[in-house]
Amino acid sequence: MIEDYEEFTSRGSTRESAENHYFTDALRFSARNWATEDAVKMTSDHLASFAKLMSYNVPSSALFDDEEQSRAYAESRPSYTEEVFHTVVEFCRESSPDLSLAVDVGCGPGMSTIGFATYFQKIIGVDISETQIACAPRNIPNCEFKVGCAHNLQFITSGTVDLFCSGQSFHWLPQEETFAEADRVLKPGGTIAIFGYDLSTADVPEVQACIQKIWMKLIPFYPRDCIQALHNLHTRNLPYPDQTRTDELKLSRRCTVQQYVDFMKSTWPIRAHRLAHPGEDMLGDIASLLTEALEKSEAGNDFLVTWNFYIIMARKPRN
Ligand SMILES: C[S@@+](CC[C@H](N)C(=O)[O-])C[C@H]1O[C@@H](n2cnc3c(N)ncnc32)[C@H](O)[C@@H]1O
Repeated sequence: MIEDYEEFTSRGSTRESAENHYFTDALRFSARNWATEDAVKMTSDHLASFAKLMSYNVPSSALFDDEEQSRAYAESRPSYTEEVFHTVVEFCRESSPDLSLAVDVGCGPGMSTIGFATYFQKIIGVDISETQIACAPRNIPNCEFKVGCAHNLQFITSGTVDLFCSGQSFHWLPQEETFAEADRVLKPGGTIAIFGYDLSTADVPEVQACIQKIWMKLIPFYPRDCIQALHNLHTRNLPYPDQTRTDELKLSRRCTVQQYVDFMKSTWPIRAHRLAHPGEDMLGDIASLLTEALEKSEAGNDFLVTWNFYIIMARKPRN
């Protein structure tokens, strides 16, 4: 329960270890918009406690195939703005102007895929999860969705892809193997693009305090290699020298408590937490805490949620 966690952390350890750094660094990247000095310090203390607490770690392969969660994912995750797709396409067009084929790995139900359909002759979304692919749209003629692994795209001929992208999924993928597969399928001059968003911020301070508390409970339920990859996104270098990144874009939308709870339902740490603690109603706790915070704030029935967005892009050399 979230209250138990507060009691625990108030007497928690601040022991430093490499593992603790994974958690704090992941949070520093994912919640850099929260990061007042106090918040980071508090976070560091809390996460040190959690790292010690957590002997249980769910393998990521157990997380992805869940029909209810995939439906929540399709319905409640933020959509990407046109600016996101446009930024990636303009970078790609400079050195691979055909725009004949794009591949989106870890595509989920397709929110990172479909915005490219207006630019590319064909785009293929690939995801390891059957339930995520089952929720992807079927009515976009030049958009195809397939169940498969990001690092094993046998159905794509070498050297035929203009854009290889990964939206909000790169931290879940086997990094080096995925780069190797991108290198195989990309044309010379083709682009690899990794993009995604961080933990959200609410414009109502009482709600934001609550959201921070919830995420500090959930961060340890990310698999360890995923946390490590999130940390690396801070300074991630793609395998090609001609590369760029932007951290300027944002996604935002107004949410009621129920809409925010639905969004949380789509997150993997919630699923991992449920597998680890089947008797607990984490989503019910989140709903109660947010309702109480919003009532206290007198801000009305909803709040503005903002996600910071990053895009990292690089071009495969021509020779
Ligand atoms: C957070 S979701 C991102 C979905 C979507 N691209 C978006 O922008 O919201 C991460 C996705 O990566 C998928 N995934 C995890 N490991 C994968 C792998 N090795 N190959 C392909 N997809 C994978 C998961 O099933 C999940 O749908």
